[in-house]
Amino acid sequence: MILVTGGAGYLGAHAVLALLEAGEEVVVLDNFANSSPEALRRVRRISRRKPALVVGDVRNRSVLDDLFKRFPVDAVMHFAGLKAVGESVRQPLRYYDTNVGGSINLCQAMAYAGVFTLVFSSSATVYGDCQRMPIDEQTACGHPTNPYGQSKLMTEQVLASLAQADDRWSIGVLRYFNPVGAHPSGLLGESPKAVPSNLLPYLLRVAGGQLPALPVFGNDYPTPDGTGVRDYIHVLDLVAGHLDTLAYLRRSSGIRAWNLGTGLGYSVLELVHAFERISGISVPLDMRERRPGDVAKCWADATRAREELGWVARRDLDTMLRDAWHWQRANPTGYSKMPGSGTAAKVADERASALPLR
Ligand code: NAD
Ligand code: UFG
Repeated sequence: MILVTGGAGYLGAHAVLALLEAGEEVVVLDNFANSSPEALRRVRRISRRKPALVVGDVRNRSVLDDLFKRFPVDAVMHFAGLKAVGESVRQPLRYYDTNVGGSINLCQAMAYAGVFTLVFSSSATVYGDCQRMPIDEQTACGHPTNPYGQSKLMTEQVLASLAQADDRWSIGVLRYFNPVGAHPSGLLGESPKAVPSNLLPYLLRVAGGQLPALPVFGNDYPTPDGTGVRDYIHVLDLVAGHLDTLAYLRRSSGIRAWNLGTGLGYSVLELVHAFERISGISVPLDMRERRPGDVAKCWADATRAREELGWVARRDLDTMLRDAWHWQRANPTGYSKMPGSGTAAKVADERASALPLR
């Protein structure tokens, strides 16, 4: 059985679905700090299988000890954490406590329960500000410039020490580039509780008429059109990488890091124009200064994941944008209830069935 911490979140819920569809048993631990139980109801609807759920905090040792006693967990995917870069600058202790402290607490409880297989959600932010692209796993260009990024780097270091000290551990560190997109059913997607800070969720709300214009943070970067370039990866490709990692970890020990990205970089304007072409909607832009802490460009060399895990990202940018737009139209308010209507799920189902599925 796999424990998925943060399994009700954007990436975690897609991972739970993929695990259930692959025949695994799953228990989710989530405190719903940035998610809704509705995501798991929809996972159940799509997969026709039910993950077990423990509502609790990954920092709470007795919750974890109890969970490991109740469920025959043999591996953990650790998604639970806080991820808003700007918020991490304002509330650094909360970020270190949840992301680093939560991970340490989890590892202590795992060791106590005799569970030593762990997939950790890290981020390309650990590479810092690199000039040479693409970025492979050995690249080091300084340090992350914010507490969120630091918390990921620190956790990686904790895990490396752990694997060095005790060879029972088998740990996969997955460095995500920019996960976007949604499940093609339109039932599962990203539903941030606050106004989104990431590009695509913000763009979707502008296109959906909930926000007036998309801020473009900087058009004077040393990139072809002056806007920031990123490696966007479809959430379904990302979670497929987790299943491949799990298979690898089950037959190995030690610690290894892999990039999960497509290897392709798109600028903000390229992404906006691709979205406009796909949706037929014109997106109003609001040109702004650079956002503090942003790098000009960031895309992956994912050769190691291909060679060692047999994993490659298969879905292109158009598919990411089409699936994300499908999700947004079906769920304009995410998983929360639409005012004056039934549940969001019912609305999503009705709207999704009215939309052409690819
Ligand atoms: P998310 O906020 O949608 O999901 C995180 C989940 O963890 C939520 O369900 C939240 O309620 C839960 N959670 C938070 N604090 C918790 C706690 N103390 N105890 C138990 N549960 C808790 O975020 P996501 O996009 O799904 O990201 C998942 C992981 O991937 C995070 O660790 C994030 O840092 C990492 N990551 C995400 C991105 C991205 O762009 N989405 C990029 C790189 C890395
Ligand atoms: N951007 C805008 N307008 C917006 C939001 C973003 O122009 O409203 C631009 C940014 O300046 C950047 C690009 O769009 O050039 C992507 O920005 P995101 O905020 O979507 O993503 P980031 O690359 O800043 O960060 C994401 C995750 C981090 C993770 C990192 C890894 O949010 O958790 O990818 O590369 F660490």
